[in-house]
This record gives sequence, structure tokens and C-alpha cells, in this order.
Amino acid sequence: STMFPTSVKNTSVLISLSFFALHTYIYPSSSLSYNKKAVVINELGGPECLKLVHNHPTPQLRPGHAIIQNQYAGLNFIDTYFRKGLYKAALPFVPGQEGGGTILAISSDDTNNDSTFQVGDVVVYGTLGAYAQYTLVPVTQLVKVPQNVSLDIAVSCYTQGLTAHYLTTSVHCGMLQTNDWCLIYSVGSGTCQWAAQMAKIQGYKVIGTCSQSKAAAVKEVGA
Ligand SMILES: NC(=O)c1ccc[n+]([C@@H]2O[C@H](COP(=O)([O-])OP(=O)(O)OC[C@H]3O[C@@H](n4cnc5c(N)ncnc54)[C@H](OP(=O)(O)O)[C@@H]3O)[C@@H](O)[C@H]2O)c1
Repeated sequence: STMFPTSVKNTSVLISLSFFALHTYIYPSSSLSYNKKAVVINELGGPECLKLVHNHPTPQLRPGHAIIQNQYAGLNFIDTYFRKGLYKAALPFVPGQEGGGTILAISSDDTNNDSTFQVGDVVVYGTLGAYAQYTLVPVTQLVKVPQNVSLDIAVSCYTQGLTAHYLTTSVHCGMLQTNDWCLIYSVGSGTCQWAAQMAKIQGYKVIGTCSQSKAAAVKEVGA
């Protein structure tokens, strides 16, 4: 919540996964067994390559991982890069780089001792495989959603928000001082509308380039 103040305007695109009706599942202590709906890519190409599959293999819980019952998945440019083959993933694969939902199961080594995650926690993550009912996610990729942030907002913060955050903090650390001018190209994009607002929070003066149609929107976020 400190990373993404609720006052920051969010323009991300989300899909709700509520159309994935929950199938029956058995939950013994060490493994899960259920049918799983997922969008699968068997061959690279256009959007027609996205195929809905009703009996996708169950993700098996592994050490250091959790199984998330998804509620939302984000739509980002990176999803199209994987679909087209610009970014590589072994075929077939479930696309979707950004998702969120509830922890259905977590490896026992991660619930011992000082783990911050428990079954039932509401989380977001950034791992390939979000276009599915269930996704196996490394625990290191999980972020707990604060109670005062709704899950749809939290999911859409992940890819664009974290990118904007590292670009306005760690990556350019030391290059800009308070009150310096910060030029953001394509400031009307979702990522850069976040970046403009975060740059303002850092104390920079923001100027940007955008198409005429975005001029009013970018002024609203402070550019
Ligand atoms: N971690 C990462 O590395 C990371 C994370 C997120 C995004 N990205 C990258 O950041 C870019 C923007 O992503 P987004 O999710 O923010 O997209 P978005 O919200 O859809 O915005 C895309 C922007 O591209 C601009 N644009 C389109 N065609 C253009 C052209 N020919 N010349 C100049 N500008 C053009 C549009 O500007 P106008 O409407 O003003 O014309 C629009 O604002 C993508 O390349 C994406 O892959 C990288």
C-alpha cells in the first residue's frame, strides 16, 4: 500500500476469471487433484492461438511454491510477446504474466516458522501462467494484498506499477534531484501514467510526449 498510494490513477486492463467455474478438487496434505480450466497456447501466432482447455493438467505443488486460485489476470504487452514468440516459452504453455487470487495450497516448508503466507491469503503475483483457474507460483513472486486495496486494483498494479516504480526510483537513482525536469516519452501509456505520478511523488517536474488524444489525461496525472 505504501508502494502504490490509492491516489495514484490506474489505467490497466484486467480480465475477470469468474467465468471459470470451480471444478471439484481433492485436497490431501501433500498433493492436489482436480480438473483445471486454462487458456493454452499450442502454437505461436495471433489471438486465435489462445485456446480454452477444460482439462488442463493439475499444477503439482513443489517446494518453495504456492497454488493460487485465480480471480483476475492482467492483459499486458508482454502477453502478446509470449504469444507471438518474441519472448520464449516452451510449447504448450499457459500465458498471462500477472494474476491474483487466493492461496489454495502452499508447500509445507513455506508455512513453517517465519513464513508470511498462509492458505487463504489474498495475493497478486507476476509469473507466466495466469490465464487459468489455478497457477503454480514461486513464493518469492507473491505479494500480499492489503485489506484496504481491492484485488482488481492490486492485480493491475503489478506489471505496469512495479515497472514504473523501479524506473522512477532504483534505475535512475541519483540521476535526478528534487525539482529537476523528468521527460517521459509516451507518457499517455498505462505504464507511464503510473511513472508520471510516481515521479511527481519523488519531487520531479514531469514533461512528456503523447498523442493529442491523450493530452487531457496526462495533464490529469501531472505531466
Ligand atoms: N517490465 C517491463 O519491461 C515493462 C512493463 C510494462 C510495460 N512495458 C512496455 O512498455 C510499453 C507500454 O506498455 P503499456 O502497458 O503501458 O501500454 P499502453 O498502456 O497500451 O500504452 C501504449 C502507448 O504506446 C503509444 N504508441 C503506440 N504506437 C505508437 C507509435 N507508433 N509511436 C509512439 N507511441 C506509440 C501510445 O501512445 P498514444 O496513445 O499517446 O499515441 C500508448 O500510450 C510496451 O512496449 C510494454 O511492453 C515494459
